[in-house]
Amino acid sequence: MQRESQLTNAALMARRQHAVARGVGQAHEIFIARGRNAELWDVEGRRFIDFAGGIAVLNTGHCHPEVIAAVTDQLDRYTHTCFQVLAYEPYVELAERLNALAPGDFPKKSLFLSTGAEAIENAVKIARAFTGRAGVIAFTGGYHGRTLLTLGLTGKVAPYKTGFGPFPGEVFHALFPNELHGVSVADALNSVETILKNDVEASRVAAFIVEPVQGEGGFYVAPPAFVEGLKRIADRHGILLIADEVQTGAGRCGTWFASEQWPVAPDLIATAKSMAGGFPISGVVGRADVMDAPGPGGLGGTYAGSPVGCAAALAVLKVFDDEQLLARSRAVGSRLIEGLRRIAEHHPAIADVRGLGAMVAIELFEGGNLARPDAELTRRVVAEAARRGLILLSCGTYGNVIRVLVPLTASDALIDEGLQILADSFAAQR
Ligand SMILES: Cc1ncc(COP(=O)(O)O)c(C=O)c1O
Repeated sequence: MQRESQLTNAALMARRQHAVARGVGQAHEIFIARGRNAELWDVEGRRFIDFAGGIAVLNTGHCHPEVIAAVTDQLDRYTHTCFQVLAYEPYVELAERLNALAPGDFPKKSLFLSTGAEAIENAVKIARAFTGRAGVIAFTGGYHGRTLLTLGLTGKVAPYKTGFGPFPGEVFHALFPNELHGVSVADALNSVETILKNDVEASRVAAFIVEPVQGEGGFYVAPPAFVEGLKRIADRHGILLIADEVQTGAGRCGTWFASEQWPVAPDLIATAKSMAGGFPISGVVGRADVMDAPGPGGLGGTYAGSPVGCAAALAVLKVFDDEQLLARSRAVGSRLIEGLRRIAEHHPAIADVRGLGAMVAIELFEGGNLARPDAELTRRVVAEAARRGLILLSCGTYGNVIRVLVPLTASDALIDEGLQILADSFAAQR
C-alpha cells in the first residue's frame, strides 16, 4: 500500500481499474484526500470547489463541525443495536421532527432506512399494503435508484437499466411535463389517463411516484398545475401520491421538502441524501394511516435508521435552524440563476437556466437549437471546469444538462469563484 503523500490520481486510477468493477462509474479521475465545507483537496494536494456535493448529499457541506461532533458523540455511546431489536431515542426524535416538517394537514409517521432506493422500495411497499393494489405509475426521465424495483420505476434506459431486466411488473410510465422538450402539462396528464385506459385499470393502481424536480433526469421542475392535476386523478381513483424527495429534500429547493411548495400534499415522501450531511440514512414520511398499513415486522432492515445516521440527521436539522439554511438555499438559488444567466448571455448554447431554490441547472443545445441537445459540449465544459478546479456534474435524458448542487453553507465568494471557473470553461471552448 502506498503512503498518502506518494499517491497520484493516475496511479490510483490504474489500481481502481484492476480492482473495482467497471460498472461503477466515476465522473472525474480524481481521488480525494480531504473535504471541508464546499472545498476538496485531492491526493496530489490540488484544491477543488465542490458544486456536486456527492450528488446532492452535502447541503451542509463536507464535515460540518456540528454534524461531526454529533456523530463522534454517538460513536462514544453505541454504534448499532438494530432498531427492531433494541430501540434508541434519536430514531424516535428524528421521526417526530420529520413528521412535524412534512406538508399536509394530517397526522404523520416515519420509518428510517439506509439508501434512497430503499426508501422508494418501502414507500411502494407501504402504498401497496394500504391500497391492496400492485400498480405504480412513474414518469419518463424519472430516476428512483438502482435496485430492481427502483430501476423498473426509473424512466431512463442507458446506462441504468441496460442489461439488468426484466424488472418487476405492474410499473407504468407516463409523460413528465417538459415544456422545453414539447411536453405540456395537459400532455402529461393525458398520458396518465391513457395508461388508465390502455394498460391498467385505475382500481389496480396503488400510487403515482414523482420527483418535485427531476434529478438525474435533468432538473426539470414539476409545474404546480401538473401536481394538482395528478392529485385530482389520484383522488378520483383512490390512488396515492408519493413524492420522491431523495434529491430535492433536506432544504435543497428552499423549503425542507420541495413538496411543501406543491398546491397539494403528497401521501408519502421518500427522503435521503442530504438529510444526514454525508452519513447514510433514508426515510419515508407520510400519512399515519397509510404508514401503519404494513403489519409489525413488515418494515425495517439490519442497518435501517442507524443511530449514527439519526444523530447526523438531527445535527443537520439543528444546523439548518442555527444557520437559517432554508433562507440561504433561496439566496444561493437566486445567486446561481443570476450568475448562470450572465454566462448564458455570452454563450447561445445555454438555452435554458432553471431551478427551484438552490437546485439549479443549465441546458445546452448546439447553437441554441432546441432540436439538438449538446452532450459533447456538456462533457467538455464539465471536464474543463474540473481541470480548472471546479467539480460539476452533468445529467439529463440527453446528457446535456449541467447541474449545481453546491453546499448551502458555501460563501458567496466561493460560489462566485465557482461561477467564474464555469464561465472560463465555456470561454475556453471557442
Ligand atoms: C430522486 C432520486 N431517487 C432515488 C435515488 C436513489 O438513491 P440512492 O442512490 O441513495 O439509493 C436517487 C439518487 O440519486 C435520486 O436522485
